Amino acid sequence: MCGIMGYAGGSPASGIIIEGLARQEYRGYDSAGIALRSDGKIISAKIVGRVSELADKVRELPSKCLESASGIGHTRWATHGGVTETNAHPHESADEMVVLVHNGIIENSTEIKDELESGGIIFSTQTDTEAACQLLAVLYGQCGGDALEAMHRLTERLTGAFALVIMFRDRPGEIWCARRGSPLVTAWDGSASYCASDPTALLSYTHDLCFLEEDEMARLSPDGLKFYGFDGNARGKKSIRLNWDSVMADKGHYEHFMRKEMGEQPDVLRLTVDAHTIVTNVALEKSISLPKGLMKKIRRVQFVACGTSYYATLVARDIMESLDGDIEIRVETASEYRYRNVRGGGDTLAVFVSQSGETADTLAAARIARAKGTHCIAITNVRGSTIDREVEHTILSLAGPEIGVAATKTFMGQISLLALLVMHLLKERGTLSASDEARLISGLRSMPALQQSVLEKEREIKALADKYCGSKGFFFIGRRECVPLTMEGALKMKEIAYLPSEAYAAGEMKHGPIAMLDEQLTVVALVPDTDLREKTLSNVAECRARKAPTLMLASDGDDGARACADDIIFIPRTEPELFPFIGVIPLQLLAYHTAKALGRDIDMPRNLAKSVTVE
Ligand code: AGP
Repeated sequence: MCGIMGYAGGSPASGIIIEGLARQEYRGYDSAGIALRSDGKIISAKIVGRVSELADKVRELPSKCLESASGIGHTRWATHGGVTETNAHPHESADEMVVLVHNGIIENSTEIKDELESGGIIFSTQTDTEAACQLLAVLYGQCGGDALEAMHRLTERLTGAFALVIMFRDRPGEIWCARRGSPLVTAWDGSASYCASDPTALLSYTHDLCFLEEDEMARLSPDGLKFYGFDGNARGKKSIRLNWDSVMADKGHYEHFMRKEMGEQPDVLRLTVDAHTIVTNVALEKSISLPKGLMKKIRRVQFVACGTSYYATLVARDIMESLDGDIEIRVETASEYRYRNVRGGGDTLAVFVSQSGETADTLAAARIARAKGTHCIAITNVRGSTIDREVEHTILSLAGPEIGVAATKTFMGQISLLALLVMHLLKERGTLSASDEARLISGLRSMPALQQSVLEKEREIKALADKYCGSKGFFFIGRRECVPLTMEGALKMKEIAYLPSEAYAAGEMKHGPIAMLDEQLTVVALVPDTDLREKTLSNVAECRARKAPTLMLASDGDDGARACADDIIFIPRTEPELFPFIGVIPLQLLAYHTAKALGRDIDMPRNLAKSVTVE
């Protein structure tokens, strides 16, 4: 949720920390802060607003601060305590000995605060984080300045989720970290140590990263990294090489990351298909290596995820179902799966999909499934992420870093891999025909060019966004393979344009929602030329009869559809199961240009953060 950056080296820390925060600003952006050393003290600067405003404030700090060779920074997505400068991180203990930043939620903060206040310690913020800070200062004093012992005792007391990054006033050049439940990655480039919430913040310095495990601590210094368990015992750790290019996380000449990332989708699909197929065959077994014969024993497959990743799993379900009607498939949002009594065990395969690999609900759901003996696979975009490390098998999606809060190219990476995974699993099960395999692989191979042709319709779609952006809301309707896209289209419209948007299976409209329609609610109808075309067109006619302006996505050459809508976007024909690969692009562009017309903050929409590492 929040972004953390820490540096201990020989260069001025302030610029490194500001740059690291700017790269992670999509994780949280309501306030920001930094702590630097000056004359034996730790000096903090905080602002309510964006990292660029923090950079302005830092420039006004005393020159000694700007020379500080270590420091920590934070960009916040508020959970406990309002968005104020006081509640912004870093937080400082009353005795000024400890300064720290935190990502996560300290669940027993009230209890700790009550205890410390009764001992005379005065709290100055409304955050849960301050309890950890004040407690650590007390423990540090009690341990006679033994940082490792104080950290061990602190982690014993705290409950909840936390990534903590800490400076002690009397330990110049040292930074301490602890991780439980919230991600933290560290690195040493030979002369300086770094830590961050997100690997993209470290790629300008090194690609060799050490991800902290659950219940692990680290000490950063210019001489290197040292790792410990929460019990205080030292640990060895190997770095993981992340082959992402730091340029991939740059906006280039684009106005928004989202626009750049939408445009990368044909490449993401091409890369994925090239990596996992041979001519007309799926070759995913190389990267998945499930126990031999497993698929013959599997009776049910579960797909579990949140948000856009969940909609990607709906696409996977539809493809799987269309190819094999016998296998029991369940698709569930992780936030529900974790609290329901979902059947698991050795005859069940669960596929957890998470772009970040850090979504708290998805991680919890995976832990529950594992405890039931379910075979667990993850699809994630981030090597070394928590889900990658916790499940039996991970298949990495090849989307590269995604910075825009609204997921676009990672959705494409997910549905590409999921389609291949589904085919691989059914092949192992013996239920995928050679003709279906060849048909779908060749459909996927020809898809990037088709996607490119839809991206080239941007001007047309922008004009439609300008026309409809004054609507009081949108209804996205479609049937079967279009239903997941109605959800994704509506989510994009909600999260970046802030317009009320509903997604409905077209046949369900007349069971209630149609009552909402009038001339101010725009219907976006997804009507590819399949066996369901006529039925969907009837549903569209019902909406138009209620005066709703209608914008339709239809297949190239379907001239008959033209008269059935107020406006129409023609897109290339595909295999029916593969419609989501092409249909999602105009929906993303429509939301993007609607948000732009309304002057929204597209890459950092209000109230959101890129990864949701709290429940
Ligand atoms: C998508 O645009 C959203 N930002 C959000 O729904 C996201 O897909 C969801 O939070 C899941 O994230 P994950 O894939 O990192 O687990």
